[in-house]
Amino acid sequence: MNEDEQYYAATKANFLESLNTAEDADGLGSEIGDIEVSSVLDVGCGIGQALYPLAVAVGASGVGIDVSEESLRIGQTIYLEKFPNARVLFVRSMAETLPFENESFDLLNCGLALPYMDNALAISEMARVMRPGGVLLLKIHHPRFYFGEIVRGLKGAGMSPIIHGSRVLAAGTVYHVFGRQPRFKPLHESYQTEWMLRRELPRHGLSIERPQKKTNAATPAFVIKKAV
Ligand SMILES: C[S@@+](CC[C@H](N)C(=O)[O-])C[C@H]1O[C@@H](n2cnc3c(N)ncnc32)[C@H](O)[C@@H]1O
Repeated sequence: MNEDEQYYAATKANFLESLNTAEDADGLGSEIGDIEVSSVLDVGCGIGQALYPLAVAVGASGVGIDVSEESLRIGQTIYLEKFPNARVLFVRSMAETLPFENESFDLLNCGLALPYMDNALAISEMARVMRPGGVLLLKIHHPRFYFGEIVRGLKGAGMSPIIHGSRVLAAGTVYHVFGRQPRFKPLHESYQTEWMLRRELPRHGLSIERPQKKTNAATPAFVIKKAV
């Protein structure tokens, strides 16, 4: 199995296992709170595991978008097999150009996918398709995540995590200092921080309401609201 296949196999196994437990692994379902949710968009959805607690479990319709055909295919197969009546759709799209009308979703999720996207464009698109009063559940990669990669490399995992972690730290630092995200290889991935989100979100009528209940220092997770 190559690295991608291993990643999909592990994610699929975790997802299927989480269906046997009362709460989803990331506790996303418990973040919905009292907002009325009938439509959900998962941006950079991977195999779409977040669509189960956020859409299927509450009877809402869900759309997952991703650039990876393979992840969308795996997600679609799982939902067709396990939840044939679920109103879930997978669409191949870039987060930076979402193929949806303005204000068409109540709830958005974007989990661990921002580093690979043009952050300002993706945030602006998420804000555009979210209805006023809507919520975005956002989980980011903090620099600590990439320092962790470097430490892992130094402890014997090899040069690859050291090189990758260093590149993302360099690109993210350029983005934080100059407000412009490098989008050329090999500096095409950037980290995020709460500080950067507080700079970027208000430009699109969004603000951090609180941390999610399940959050951690390396991959902090936030509940973000769109002004009414
Ligand atoms: C680390 S995975 C996270 C997947 C899923 N959200 C999760 O929590 O497991 C990042 C995902 O973002 C997708 N992605 C990367 N760049 C993207 C872009 N510009 N637009 C949409 N999806 C993108 C990748 O294909 C990948 O499936």
